[in-house]
Amino acid sequence: MEPEELREVDRLLDGVEAEFDGLDSDDALHRATVLAHRLPARVRRALNEFRLERLSGVLIISGHQVDQDRVGPTPRHWRDRTGHSSAHREELLLVLYGSLLGDPFAWTTQQDGRLIHDVIPIKGHENEQLGSSSEALLTWHTEDAFHPLRSDFIGFACLRNPYGAATTIGHVDDLELPGEVREVLTGARFGIRPDESHLPKNNSAPAEEAFEAIERLDRAPDPVPVLFGHPERPYIRADPYFMSVDAADREARAALDALTERMDARMVDMRLEAGDFCFLDNYRVVHGRKPFQARHDGTDRWLKRINLTKDLRKSRAERAARDVRAIG
Ligand SMILES: [Fe+2]
Repeated sequence: MEPEELREVDRLLDGVEAEFDGLDSDDALHRATVLAHRLPARVRRALNEFRLERLSGVLIISGHQVDQDRVGPTPRHWRDRTGHSSAHREELLLVLYGSLLGDPFAWTTQQDGRLIHDVIPIKGHENEQLGSSSEALLTWHTEDAFHPLRSDFIGFACLRNPYGAATTIGHVDDLELPGEVREVLTGARFGIRPDESHLPKNNSAPAEEAFEAIERLDRAPDPVPVLFGHPERPYIRADPYFMSVDAADREARAALDALTERMDARMVDMRLEAGDFCFLDNYRVVHGRKPFQARHDGTDRWLKRINLTKDLRKSRAERAARDVRAIG
């Protein structure tokens, strides 16, 4: 962002920040969507080009200042946030940018149904396949690959990342897969189980029915294709760590292994810095995170995350009311 554009964003936030108490309500999200039309023209244009797939599957809007004193120490757990968020300003801006791509939504079964997630290392999760892990490689994946209502885009606001922990990115467009492998991957032959962030043990007050649905998907995932859309420029839906194929389907196993190998070789590092707002196209890129050493002293990497959908209606049957944004 150019200095004048950053000043424009600051002026907008200065003028409207106090009008937002929380950001979880239907009314707040409606107002934010309308306010987003007052963001600088060039960033609105870039976000729309990104939405229309005219750009690569990663968009970073950088240059914003994050007042480190105001946001305070990195929390030890996402549950620690009660009441007003110290990063309200960055959360609002994440929602403003995001609303030019889609509508924010939540999962009843993830971070207690919150709309805005904290991505921070949590003590005890070091070696899990979770966003809150640190010492383990977070294997590349499509966000919430197991779910047909997964996000079209995900957005991150980086509040701090002092040791430059690397997010990893892989573009499906970069894969040069032989035609026959590609064809196998477009068949409904692959099971994808939910990742552990959707399990009751990683939520405080589990709503039983929602978790029962997750358990069903965990026990017997419906076979789905990994590649879909246009055969020559396919979209991707994969999370190899949580995937299975029928033991007898050797062709599917070989195709999945070939995809994994090629994607592994193509993953690139992306080190987000404080003030970076990053959007990923969840149909065109996969992402993961390299291992890092967490400090657990209030200075750790801290991202805010939202899920965005192009079409809220698709999830209406799985949301309790029109104005409820949590699925499940
Ligand atoms: Fe993820």
